[in-house]
Amino acid sequence: MSKRTQEVSDVAVKLDEIGYWSEIKLDIISKYATAYSKIMNSQKSIRAHCYIDAFAGAGVHITKGTQKPVPGSPLNALMVEPPFTHYFFIDLDGEKVQLLREFVAGRKNVGVYEGDCNPILLHEVLPKVRYDEFKRALCLLDPYGLHLDWDVVCAAGQSRAIEIFLNFPVMDMNMNVLWGDPERVSKDQVARMDVFWGDGSWKQAAYRKTQGLFDTIEEKTSNEAVAEAYRQRLIKVAGFRYVPQPMPMRNTKGAIVYYLFFASPNKTGNKIVEDIFNKYRIRGMA
Ligand SMILES: C[S@@+](CC[C@H](N)C(=O)[O-])C[C@H]1O[C@@H](n2cnc3c(N)ncnc32)[C@H](O)[C@@H]1O
Repeated sequence: MSKRTQEVSDVAVKLDEIGYWSEIKLDIISKYATAYSKIMNSQKSIRAHCYIDAFAGAGVHITKGTQKPVPGSPLNALMVEPPFTHYFFIDLDGEKVQLLREFVAGRKNVGVYEGDCNPILLHEVLPKVRYDEFKRALCLLDPYGLHLDWDVVCAAGQSRAIEIFLNFPVMDMNMNVLWGDPERVSKDQVARMDVFWGDGSWKQAAYRKTQGLFDTIEEKTSNEAVAEAYRQRLIKVAGFRYVPQPMPMRNTKGAIVYYLFFASPNKTGNKIVEDIFNKYRIRGMA
């Protein structure tokens, strides 16, 4: 933690408190970002490799327990060596964006955007990363809940130039959409899930029909079944060639809060992330 991070984190912005698994997420992404930047930097044909953080946050968090400030994903990316060619940070929260702008002041290769990342990614950022112009990007999509549009994920997959880490917010889904009785779920929540998934086919993944005594009953499937159906969509619909098994991220009670997905057009990236995920999976079981 630099002195500057410590000083700026003392300002009045309400910072997020993060637990053990969020720190693991930050570690995983930093490790891969370093490997990615090294590989891209060494490839003479690549003209630019960018880092995109779509739900960037303030750039600093507070660790639960110790209450110490810890750098968030955008600041970690800025520390990667060799550096990325360009950085794009986006957040909806004006105060967080202001703090992030203070951190990156004077850095010409960083763009900070305030607003909903979905249209910003689709219309301003992703079109800048073109495969045929030999540009590539690593993009972190890390919402709290169902705030990511499938169109963004699809655009990244179809670009063949962009790799993503994606927070698959299974806790928001379970709390608000994937109820035992689907009839009771509000239309608004169903609409949120449709936008995240891209269509209504999540219902087939989340429920199975069984024959009751008098009627067919809809029964909920598991978190794993829903995540696997999404993994298949990343491959078959979005067009990512490689999507390893996602990493379940748990709270202190052991419940899965979200799955961390990685999706990539590159075999090498896939292999590196599988190795990183496996190391943390073993640690998580210990
Ligand atoms: C889980 S936090 C991000 C943490 C960050 N990736 C890190 O690891 O340091 C989610 C962030 O998304 C922001 N957010 C929520 N909805 C958004 C949207 N539609 N577009 C952009 N940012 C959004 C919130 O303000 C919050 O800062």
